[in-house]
Amino acid sequence: MDFKGAKKKRNRRLFLTPLLLLFPHPQPFLLGFALQFAAVDTGEAKSKLEIEQLLEGNFASQGRYRTFATWRRFNHHDVKARNSNGMPVMLRSPKFYRYWLDFRRNLQNWARKRMFQPDIMMDLVTLVKVPIDSHNGLMSSDNKYKSCAVVGNSGILLNTDHGKFIDGHEAVIRLNNARTERFEKNVGSKTSISFVNSNILHLCARRDGCFCHPYGGNVPMVMYICQPVHFMDYLVCNSSHKAPLLITDPRFDMLCSRIVKYYSAKRFVEDTGKALSEWGSTHDGSMFHYSSGMQAVMLALGICDKVSIFGFGKSTLAKHHYHTNQKAELRLHDYEAEYAFYHDLVKNPRAIPFISDKFRFPPVVFYQ
Ligand SMILES: *[C@@H]1O[C@H](CO)[C@@H](O)[C@H](O)[C@H]1NC(C)=O
Repeated sequence: MDFKGAKKKRNRRLFLTPLLLLFPHPQPFLLGFALQFAAVDTGEAKSKLEIEQLLEGNFASQGRYRTFATWRRFNHHDVKARNSNGMPVMLRSPKFYRYWLDFRRNLQNWARKRMFQPDIMMDLVTLVKVPIDSHNGLMSSDNKYKSCAVVGNSGILLNTDHGKFIDGHEAVIRLNNARTERFEKNVGSKTSISFVNSNILHLCARRDGCFCHPYGGNVPMVMYICQPVHFMDYLVCNSSHKAPLLITDPRFDMLCSRIVKYYSAKRFVEDTGKALSEWGSTHDGSMFHYSSGMQAVMLALGICDKVSIFGFGKSTLAKHHYHTNQKAELRLHDYEAEYAFYHDLVKNPRAIPFISDKFRFPPVVFYQ
């Protein structure tokens, strides 16, 4: 990752904003504004409404009816009812009704926990490592993994042979089911945690028995919910999963959101000289989301004594993903903002906002 390049760009057009012109040293003011700005969740009202509608069985208004119809067809619930709306028809299948109650219960519990909690980093061992240890037949303890490798999916991995080094970490976290076969030399083959977003599971849920385990059915998965409707996929898949299928705590999601939004807002003002209020229109406001990689790194900070990071960052000479031919970056994410976060993580973790002062950051190393 080229931190130097990022810095150079940052100083451009800094003084275009009239407010900033008033202050010869705008940095502290900007940081304060970006901090306040990031603490307001612009998507909150929309997402509350969305959850309410889902709890009422109103899937149609989400524009995601197709998703739901697919789910129902896949599970052989009431094929003929596909074109009608609302509960009464859906309730005909007793099996569906059971899922429906579970869905509501899970979604309600999840929605209730969606709040900002700066201490949540200290709960990650209990929330994630303890259930995984118990699945692996280990006694639960407060110990963290001695060392972790977080393996991103950047094409830069093909430039180096880090495979053995990666596998030498006590825990290896991989992202979004990127396969390792044929790439073992570059990316290793051991997987301790498969970290995915719920879109990945949603695609897997169409397959028989939710078969979607490039690392084997015994590898625990940790997943963040990017669309609440995906709780349906979670419930169907969780019941057949041998290994734990853990959902990230919504308080942890919220912390990650705020951090990335802070870096994004700060960069936006520094780079464009525009006002913070314009950030939303260029970052798709309520749809803005941290990447899976960012949250996997945050998870590693909470459950590991030492963190090594591979396959993050890009290069004009490398493919976007090591395992696909995908070209474009998803507009949903602000990778530059996330690089700024990683920069602080390595150089000055105390500059990272929102995380509780009580949290002790482990040493983090990025490998090219
Ligand atoms: C998911 O599956 C595990 C293991 O079968 C079970 O203990 C857990 O309660 C399930 N979670 C939900 C929300 O149903």
